[in-house]
Amino acid sequence: MARTVYVNGEYVPENEGKISIFDRGFLFADGVYEVTAVINGKLVDYDPHMERLERSLSELRMGWPCTKDELKAMHLEMMKRNALTEGIIYMQVTRGIADRQFNFPKDAKSTLIAFTQAMKLAENPNAVTGVKVISTPDIRWARRDIKTVMLLAPVLGKQAAYEQGANEAWMIEDGFVTEGTSSNAYIVKDGKVITRGLSNSILAGCTRRSLFRLAKEHGVVIEERSFTIDEAYDADEAFLTSASQFVMPIVEIDGHRIGGGQPGPVVRKLREMFLEEAGK
Ligand code: PDD
Repeated sequence: MARTVYVNGEYVPENEGKISIFDRGFLFADGVYEVTAVINGKLVDYDPHMERLERSLSELRMGWPCTKDELKAMHLEMMKRNALTEGIIYMQVTRGIADRQFNFPKDAKSTLIAFTQAMKLAENPNAVTGVKVISTPDIRWARRDIKTVMLLAPVLGKQAAYEQGANEAWMIEDGFVTEGTSSNAYIVKDGKVITRGLSNSILAGCTRRSLFRLAKEHGVVIEERSFTIDEAYDADEAFLTSASQFVMPIVEIDGHRIGGGQPGPVVRKLREMFLEEAGK
């Protein structure tokens, strides 16, 4: 069955969802996005995603395409029209349509599009076995705190991972792991979770934010600091977080087995806590 997608106020069959070749998202990657999970027909972490969207838009001096209430209504309508009970809603805002010029166009109206992807999130088989990760240099721009659609470096990193039989690439800058190509990165040592602190070098993950709150409630200690890939090879456990993967165990990094090649107790507990809260 063809999905219904959203394009600038209209709900249309997916093959009719079209954008101008002059859209600045297409020409300059001049746009931002959010990916929100749906579990049991409910949006997960919706408010944090919209707070981050607001920040991304404001950092790029980009206008809201509609009101916040309209945006929420659009998410709910997309779930309904696509009978989405589990999966993700992708939404993207660009600076709009104008003849090609680098500086901001004067009267362009932002473009807003959205689509859904049905996926198994809670029962993801990767969560049982754990996934493999490779490392790669972080060649992205300096404002990774803004969730832009400029994703060529993550595309290349993820492709390198897939070509080596892995699911994700951890990016390295100045000797330290920044994050995954589409996820935040964590290791566990002596029962303590270690993850890089927030700055312009990484995206402030909404799943990361929920994880911090849940960890605190359940007495799991998180230390915010940078770690090297060598430290990761030697970790007791490793995992990643993102809206589409929640808390995902990692069992191999650059061919080094982590925790005997099995998801460890801390990551299993954190994933369980997250799913419980998400209503699964
Ligand atoms: N990616 N870091 C990067 C570079 C990301 O692209 C993402 C999310 C995250 C995790 O953020 P969150 O927990 O809010 O999903 C961290 C999304 C899922 C994507 O591009 O598909």
